[in-house]
Amino acid sequence: GEAAIGLDLGGTNIKAGLVARDGTVIHRLSLPTEAHRGGEALMDRLSEIVLALREHAMKHDWRIRGVGVGSAGQVSREKGAVIGATANLPGWAGMELAVRLESRTGLPVAVDNDANAMAFGEAWAGAGREWRDFVCVTLGTGVGGCLILDREPYRGRDGFAGEFGHHVVEHGGIPCNCGRTGCWEQYASVTALMRMTREIKGEAELLATPTKVFGSAREGYGPALTLVNEYANYIAIGLANLIHLFNPQGIVIGGAVTQQGDFLFDRVRGAVAGLLLPVYKDAAEEIPIVPAALGNDGGVIGAVAGYFIKSD
Ligand code: BGC
Ligand code: NA
Ligand code: ZN
Repeated sequence: GEAAIGLDLGGTNIKAGLVARDGTVIHRLSLPTEAHRGGEALMDRLSEIVLALREHAMKHDWRIRGVGVGSAGQVSREKGAVIGATANLPGWAGMELAVRLESRTGLPVAVDNDANAMAFGEAWAGAGREWRDFVCVTLGTGVGGCLILDREPYRGRDGFAGEFGHHVVEHGGIPCNCGRTGCWEQYASVTALMRMTREIKGEAELLATPTKVFGSAREGYGPALTLVNEYANYIAIGLANLIHLFNPQGIVIGGAVTQQGDFLFDRVRGAVAGLLLPVYKDAAEEIPIVPAALGNDGGVIGAVAGYFIKSD
């Protein structure tokens, strides 16, 4: 059958997969990004992954339509290039991703922002399947975002729309990897949760990782509960802004912390309700805030959605 190779390039991990035309992932690969090694090393790594997946596809008689890459940073789909990237991916800005990967692999390559890709995946085969317009947010090393408008990512003039992680929620706030201060990313990312954890003086063992923070909070450990509530409040501040801006049909949230389910989501939903203007608040009862349905696969699936949706 027909398949495509999807890559999801985040600040910490590269997830990749061979995706069938119905959106199912046939085969997966995952490697650490090792962003500190710079842009060229990253380029090598992406090529190797594509070649490995191409080989797997050939062995199992899958015909490859092309490669789709979702990358963190400001990506021009038209130019096939990463135009801007924060310090999460040093040396990545200016990378002509499509041309470079095409010449190394002989396959057509389409690029997009990583959160746009994830949102496209959720629109195609995930939590946003039933919605025309919705908002997607990813909470990871950074905070990514995407407005799905008419079932497709809204990309704006240059492809840079949807940088929700860098909307400012605190004037003169915490310095961000983008060079400015007070960005939502510095409060709602997993990186931020771990920074907040280090700031409180708790029993280090209980709080060493996000999973441990949530585990301790579930067991009722006070400092961990305070932390989770504060984190939920920060997530909610940004979501309330997005609801006021876009009045979406729903909000889909991706990233590993969504595994915490209602323990986190109910806190976020409650905090959002407390931040909305009255008419939005009434509507909000009907605006679901839900975890991504495709989990870790969303970015990989969405990165190739364009190959299959347009030909259907
Ligand atoms: C970047 C975005 C990206 C997000 C998630 C942010 O720091 O600016 O482009 O989508 O991280 O990776
Ligand atoms: Na985006
Ligand atoms: Zn920023």
